[in-house]
Amino acid sequence: MTVSLTGIREALIAQLAGRHSTPPRRLVAPAPSEPELDALIRVALAAPAHGGLRNFRIIRIVETARPALCDLFEAAEREMDLEASEEALARAREKAGHAPLLLLFIVRAFEGHPDIPVLEQHASAGAALGGLLHAAQVLGYGAMAVSGHKLSTSVFRSAFALDPHEQALCFVALGTPSGPARSKVREAPETVLSLWPAAASVNHPAEKNA
Ligand SMILES: Cc1cc2nc3c(=O)[nH]c(=O)nc-3n(C[C@H](O)[C@H](O)[C@H](O)COP(=O)(O)O)c2cc1C
Repeated sequence: MTVSLTGIREALIAQLAGRHSTPPRRLVAPAPSEPELDALIRVALAAPAHGGLRNFRIIRIVETARPALCDLFEAAEREMDLEASEEALARAREKAGHAPLLLLFIVRAFEGHPDIPVLEQHASAGAALGGLLHAAQVLGYGAMAVSGHKLSTSVFRSAFALDPHEQALCFVALGTPSGPARSKVREAPETVLSLWPAAASVNHPAEKNA
């Protein structure tokens, strides 16, 4: 059987360009296996990082700690709203139970670095998160980044022992989508790609491998 390299590349690009989120409540088992999770983290580690600064770390929520995470979500809700209703507290607890695998993605930014502004550090962490989400989809899993004000509460920060220069950016929920994906229309490349000078035009070079 002949395998077309161009076909494989096109399929990979289609996979990457077709990335979409699956809400945590629609993620079921199986979650990525240990070697697959390892692969996701390796892709995240391949993100560009100026000066080799590592601007993120990831905490895996151990499955047996889900009840403790439910307690933590409830405590964070209470901290945000001293008069939170029983319903709101129950909703907060429920959110911690969704998705078979949860990772907490933490951004580490160093103010006052002589060469690398915080903006670049945030961009680098974002690239790592994007790589992880893309890799999950390439492996056939569903994923979604989810955050919320609770991540900034003091109970949450202290439960995850965050340093002052760290901020929990989001959870990454991972698993298998329980149903088909809703089709998503993405913007055309021209919506974000322009020329400089604006009046210039480009003759496209012959396509590689054409
Ligand atoms: C760091 C981060 C945190 C996010 N937090 C939430 C969230 O709490 N709730 C939510 O509905 N979407 C959140 N999103 C957006 C979703 O993850 C998702 O990207 C969005 O719904 C668009 O869907 P798509 O990824 O399929 O394009 C977050 C995205 C990022 C990058």
